[in-house]
Amino acid sequence: STVHAAEIERTFIAIKPDGVQRGLISEIISRFERKGYKLVAIKILTPTKEFAMLHYDDLKERPFFNGLCDFLSSGPVVAMVWEGQGVVKYGRKLIGATSPHNSEPGTIRGDLAISVGRNIIHGSDGPETAKNEINLWFKPEELVDYGLDSEKWLY
Ligand code: TYD
Repeated sequence: STVHAAEIERTFIAIKPDGVQRGLISEIISRFERKGYKLVAIKILTPTKEFAMLHYDDLKERPFFNGLCDFLSSGPVVAMVWEGQGVVKYGRKLIGATSPHNSEPGTIRGDLAISVGRNIIHGSDGPETAKNEINLWFKPEELVDYGLDSEKWLY
């Protein structure tokens, strides 16, 4: 095994209500899973608008903030934590650009979405955001540990 434990990072990924309603849960999970990332936490819930506002707090000055929070709280969301080397940055690459007009074919948004307001998935934009979002959505005991030997199949 050539990877140091400190290189294994975690990111917060959420399938938004449009992705859930469109039946894209397994499609999205399989893209992360096939890459080699490990699913360490998952739950499905409909967030309150207040919770959505906490999640998107950094965007509270933006004109789309209210509509975005209405949308995120409009139905079931699949909240997940994925783990692996470089998962924060590469997870964003798998997801694709914010606007599906700009996201490349081969990315989740590029392949599966059309509109920025219905772009089906959220992923933390950096290591600090990832820590904050994981703490917001999950209790520590909701995250699993795959054990010491589990890295040798990947790294
Ligand atoms: P942002 O954090 O900029 O993008 P990302 O989800 O790629 O990290 O914005 C959060 C969400 O806000 C984005 O996924 C979709 C929505 N949004 C709009 O509805 N209109 C916009 O102009 C932008 C920039 C984002």
